[in-house]
Amino acid sequence: MRACLFVRSGAPAGRCGYPPPAMPTRLTTDPDRAARALAAGRLVAFPTETVYGLGADAESARAVARVFAAKGRPADHPLIVHGADAGVLERYGRDAPGVARTLADALWPGPLTLLVRRGPGVDPAATGGRDTVGLRVPAHPLALAMLARFGRGVAAPSANRFGRTSPTTAAHVEDDLGDAVDVVLDGGPSAVGVESTILDLTGPAPVLLRSGGVPLEALRELVGADVRRGEGGPARAPGMLEAHYAPRARVEVHADAAAAARAAAAHAARGARVAVLGHVPDVPGTVTLRPADGAAGYARDLYRMLREADRRGADVVVAVPPPPAGLGLAVADRLRRAAAAG
Ligand code: TXA
Ligand code: MG
Repeated sequence: MRACLFVRSGAPAGRCGYPPPAMPTRLTTDPDRAARALAAGRLVAFPTETVYGLGADAESARAVARVFAAKGRPADHPLIVHGADAGVLERYGRDAPGVARTLADALWPGPLTLLVRRGPGVDPAATGGRDTVGLRVPAHPLALAMLARFGRGVAAPSANRFGRTSPTTAAHVEDDLGDAVDVVLDGGPSAVGVESTILDLTGPAPVLLRSGGVPLEALRELVGADVRRGEGGPARAPGMLEAHYAPRARVEVHADAAAAARAAAAHAARGARVAVLGHVPDVPGTVTLRPADGAAGYARDLYRMLREADRRGADVVVAVPPPPAGLGLAVADRLRRAAAAG
């Protein structure tokens, strides 16, 4: 008789448990498996260059409803529809202006979401009943392979619970959503680290609704200087709540390293557990979390550091944002919103 290498626990005495039972795991690196799950109406968390998304078939009201339920997201907060190529503009949009094609050609795949009129192809539930739709082609090889294989649009918000910090690794998704997701496609840490830039193209001139992975300077170069900033204005995206993107710890934003160091020392002196975020010299009695160099390094590390602060049980995060140029604009915006949540 063959030697038994694996004894399955609970197997009848003397019975060999080989081969071992397949481990039912939702974690995979196989984009085809992710695409099959989407086709079956399931929820798939997938990597993008910005943050991980929680995706469902954009043409299925039932699948889309599961996204809102899993996230605890209000039903009137629209989702971005992701596609494998710029064909999404015709398939899910309507009357997209010429500038949409210009931007798509220059920046897709990439961290830019274009807001255009909604076409009949996308389920209204995905856009929270709005007659506009946010479209994006993400720059991640596994996401693109999954989308190409699936062949339809994938409606996806960031794969965190509503109001929390966006996930930039598969482990973050597991921590936040666990069993609420059917498949997690693991594509490693997100390279950009903050969400896509959202540009509204439904009005007479483009309006920036959310700063993100494509810097405002790059947009202005492509479409001229008439990109208005509307992040805080009346045209802002629903769901761009002031109190958003927040860790459990209270967040404070300081203008420079000296002010942050003073505040951190004062918090520590009264017994608070303090995490200092940014390029700040060590403050005794506090933990310093330093991002990689430059605004892009800060963006990439931002959400990981906020989660790290929570993991270490920080009561207060004292942060110094990078200068507000390039990706620094998005980092400063997220820190300001995180601070507003406290
Ligand atoms: O980088 C990203 O954009 C990531 C990845 C997964 O693609 N997605 C993401 O989705 O950040 P979410 O749902 O967390 O944020 C999308 C924002 C929300 O504030 C939503 O209100 C806004 O985009 N949005 C989406 N469609 C919209 C629409 N039709 N009109 C106005 N705002 C819209
Ligand atoms: Mg989000």
